Amino acid sequence: KGGKILVLPGDHVGPEVVTEALKVLDIIEQETGRKFEREFDLCGGCSLDKHKTSVTEEVLQKCQKVDAVFFGSAGGPEWGTAQPNPESGLLRIRDRMQIFANLRPCKFASKTLISYSPIRPEIVRGVNFMFVRENCGGAYYGDKIENEDYGCDPWQYSRHEIERVARVAGALAMQHDPPLPVWSVDKANVLANSRVWRRIIKEIFDKEFPKVKLQNQLADSLAMLLITKPTAFNGVLVGDNTFGDILSDEAGGLTGSLGLLPSASLAGPPGPAEAGGTLGRNSVGGVIGLYEPVHGSAPDISGKGLANPVGQVLSLAMMLRYSFNMHREADIVEKAIEKVLDSKDEGGLEIRTGDLGGKAGTKEMSEAIQNTVRQL
Ligand code: NAI
Ligand code: MG
Repeated sequence: KGGKILVLPGDHVGPEVVTEALKVLDIIEQETGRKFEREFDLCGGCSLDKHKTSVTEEVLQKCQKVDAVFFGSAGGPEWGTAQPNPESGLLRIRDRMQIFANLRPCKFASKTLISYSPIRPEIVRGVNFMFVRENCGGAYYGDKIENEDYGCDPWQYSRHEIERVARVAGALAMQHDPPLPVWSVDKANVLANSRVWRRIIKEIFDKEFPKVKLQNQLADSLAMLLITKPTAFNGVLVGDNTFGDILSDEAGGLTGSLGLLPSASLAGPPGPAEAGGTLGRNSVGGVIGLYEPVHGSAPDISGKGLANPVGQVLSLAMMLRYSFNMHREADIVEKAIEKVLDSKDEGGLEIRTGDLGGKAGTKEMSEAIQNTVRQL
């Protein structure tokens, strides 16, 4: 049981950090004997240059056939703002793969991370939650009205969209023993679609995840509590497209560097099939997903070997965990990164990239991670 991965490195720092992350995958292959078939293709500006489209129909079809897509980043100033822009490729992939659950972990285990946060250490120490954002519906889709004097986005949710994202949150909670608590984020005090959201989420948890403690959390007060008392949400947060977009970015801001943040976009609930039926399963018993760092193509630092590879490597760990059910290996990669962030080299220098105030380059940081993965 190997697995097939489509690698789309994209533009600027995308290929730089993807190359390093795949070296970590090489090590996992050597250590476990499990081989992954890897195919490389284009998405973003590189595809525009070659095919005059940000993603070809051929690549979209490949995305639907593989067990996981490993994505770098797309875009850059050289492609301007003309349509189609390089970033539209990723949106078309998301739509085609129906990867409706966007996962953004927020975790402070490393001392370095805690000290680097713009928030006081005693507030962020011990933070560990997963934000699940509904990513295929809500106010960002549907028939918009836009003219000189009026704009309208229908902010709507229907039962099946809510049920499927509820099952992702529930399955994530159930991957822990005891199950993690879940907070459902909404504005049920003012929004009709939020009231439907709240009611259907509760139905699913009552029926399918009775062991999980479900609580409701208003989005506006969550915005405040995330910076004043983030440990109160250790567990799983699930929110719609709008609240999830804004609040998962806010949670990312707790870390202080974009270069550290991974993400996963899943087409169904992770874990054993009974956690949520057959929705989004891949050929090796995992869930179909696309994995990418939160950051963009960082054109200001590309080509200089300065990019922090951590977000991309942590995205690889998420791919191992959710698409290939390799929890042990995912844990090892995450631990290795914590160790590297907290370590010093023989000269007493911290091995950190420039975004973390260090002097290390992409290669040094990546080699330190690879060496640590080998030892663990
Ligand atoms: P960005 O995330 O690329 O960069 C913002 C700042 O963070 C820059 O100063 C950059 O140097 C720094 N940074 C980002 N990643 C880093 C890393 N790994 N290590 C160290 N520093 C890092 O966002 P920006 O500048 O707004 O966008 C640049 C391009 O990327 C644009 O064309 C944008 O549309 C595209 N983009 C693509 C995304 C994707 O592929 N999913 C997501 C966000 C932006
Ligand atoms: Mg955002």
